Parts: sequence; C-alpha cells; structure tokens
Amino acid sequence: MTVSLDQLRRCHFAVDLGAARTRVYVKGSGLVVDQPSAAAVNTRTGSLIAVGELAEKMTGRTPSYIRVMRPVSGGTVVDIEMAQRMLRHLLGEKLRRTLRRKPRLRAAACTPHDADPLAQRAAVETLVGLGARRVELVDTLVAAAVGCGLPVEQPEASMIMVCGAAATQIAVLSLGNIVTAERIPVGGEAVDHAIVQHLRHEHALMLPSQSVRPLRLALSGNGTAPDTLAATEILGRDVATGLARSVKVDTAAVREAIETPLTAVLDGIGKVLRDCPPDLVADLADRGIMMVGGSALLPGLDQMLRQWTGMPVRIAERPDVCAVLGLGAMLEGKIKPLTLNPLAA
Ligand SMILES: Nc1ncnc2c1ncn2[C@@H]1O[C@H](COP(=O)(O)OP(=O)(O)OP(=O)(O)O)[C@@H](O)[C@H]1O
Ligand SMILES: [Mg+2]
Repeated sequence: MTVSLDQLRRCHFAVDLGAARTRVYVKGSGLVVDQPSAAAVNTRTGSLIAVGELAEKMTGRTPSYIRVMRPVSGGTVVDIEMAQRMLRHLLGEKLRRTLRRKPRLRAAACTPHDADPLAQRAAVETLVGLGARRVELVDTLVAAAVGCGLPVEQPEASMIMVCGAAATQIAVLSLGNIVTAERIPVGGEAVDHAIVQHLRHEHALMLPSQSVRPLRLALSGNGTAPDTLAATEILGRDVATGLARSVKVDTAAVREAIETPLTAVLDGIGKVLRDCPPDLVADLADRGIMMVGGSALLPGLDQMLRQWTGMPVRIAERPDVCAVLGLGAMLEGKIKPLTLNPLAA
C-alpha cells in the first residue's frame, strides 16, 4: 500500500473533505460527522451562522448579507480557513475536547487520485489548523476500495469506480496498489447541471437549486422498471416572465439529458481497461466493477455500465461513506498488510 499502515494505525481521526459532503471518523467512536460541506457566513460581521445541513438548506434563500460558502470545490480544499471553521463546528465542542487531550494528535485524510501538491498541502494545512501534529494522506481510491471490502492486498485485480460530486475516479487495484487509474471531472454536480440546463432549454424553466434532488429521485428505476414514473411535476420560475410555474417533465427526456455527461465516464472506464495488463483484465471480467460514492446511487447508472462494459457491476452496501469507513478500518488496524519480504535464499 502506498501509505504505511503502521503510520495510519497511529492516527486518531480521519477526514474525508468532499465537494458535497464532509465526513469524519474518530478512532474508537466510528463515523461521527456526515454533513454537507457548506458554511453560511454573515458577510457584515464575518461570523459563522450555520454549517452542514442547515447551511445547505439556506442555499439560494439568503438575504444579501448572508453567503453560503463551499470551502471544498472540485474535490480539493479551496478555502482553508473556512474549511477549518466548518470542521470545528461540525465536530462540536465535546469531540474537539476529546481530540485535544491526545498528546500528539495525528490525522488521516483522503485526497483525490491525482491531487497536485498544492491540493495535498491544502488538505494537510486544514487538519493542522485543527490541532493535528501529523497528517497522513491516503488516495481516495485506496480508501474507498478498503471501505467496501475489496481484497486490495491480494494478487488479483479489483476495479473500483468512485462516483463523487465533483469527479469520478476509476482504478484497477492489485497487491495493495493502483495499477491504472483515471480521474474524470464529471460527477453528481455535472449531472445536476445537465438537468438544470435541460429544463431551461426545453421548458424555459429556472429550477431552484433545492429541486434538482427530488427530480433526480423521480428518475428512480432504470427506465425499464414498470414503477418508473413517466412524468413528474416540478415547480420553478419562468425564464421570460419571472413568475412561478409548474411543468410536467418527461422523465425519459431527463434521463437522456444526463447521459451526455456520463459518456465521459464511460470513456474513462475504456481508458483504464486499455491501460491495464491483460492478466488483470481477465480477472476483472468475472469480478466486475464495484461502484462507490454518492452518485453511484444515480438511477440507472449501474445498468448503463453493465450494458456498456458487459462486466458485472455492483454497488457497495453504503456507497457514500466507503472512503471514510476505509480510512476508519485502517485507523483501527483492521487491515492486515501484505508483507512482500525478499525470499530467503
Ligand atoms: N440517492 C442519490 N441518487 C443520486 N445521486 C445522489 C444520491 N445521493 C447522493 N447523490 C449525489 O452524490 C453526490 C455526493 O456524493 P459524495 O458524497 O460521494 O460526494 P463527495 O465525496 O462530497 O464528492 P467528491 O468525492 O467528488 O469530492 C452529490 O452530487 C449527490 O447529488
Ligand atoms: Mg468523496
């Protein structure tokens, strides 16, 4: 494994700062924070008004002096100070006190697959600001693979696809390491964007940011299921008149609209498979692809992958929290390292 499991076992807490959600695992306590990565700030005083769920609910509904900020964008921390303030509030006083009591506080964090040194530095700085004396960085792909129980340490290939909000990361892992990987900047946010654009063009309707999610859920079923709704009613603002108006949206058309950004993901899978040694591709043909990340729950995505690759596709049990649970498992020392010692003569 690229990062030392010994070092990780000494960490006290692990953080997954995602573009959509922030998750924290505390050793011995488990997953303690799983909230949207959002913070509402009073721009007149600079004070923090709300974080997490409440701040997200405020999005698009605030008077001009309140701004909802997203300190993590595109999978990396873009506003270190705000990220620290948000994390402090999400952890709460009690947990912070527990962590402060540790003599040499150590933290682990996962970073996107090809995070550049600046992005890595930002993740480290954020946790140092929280009192960590040392920060271990783990590739999200490795953390997520451990979290969903893939046999990463075995000499057989596993393929994982982390479908996040800002990006989709795909990798083939074997012997605890990444063999080939790709990061495609298309995720849940791009899908939401495609839905908003579709409604604007087809129905001249501006969708409130909070309505995208219910619409996405209305697409449930894979298009062939009989319980799939043919149309769903959605309320928005007319582009020309500015008045509230509700329209009946054809779910099949929306599904078609979101296929466009998803073709980039399919290209990414093709590239990873092409770069992969043939022995491993043979393993993958029967082991298939494991999907994790919140967007893995996007209705019909697994079906689309199955059709396109002809490989078995599975969705992890708790896809959205796999990465942080993987970090947690490493912190608790549940992962046995594969020792590749030189053989004695
Ligand atoms: N049930 C669902 N159906 C469809 N999409 C969903 C569902 N639940 C969550 N999502 C989408 O999943 C995304 C969040 O996924 P996740 O929590 O893995 O993101 P993240 O880890 O914060 O992002 P990233 O890893 O890219 O920084 C959001 O874009 C959200 O819209
Ligand atoms: Mg993530």
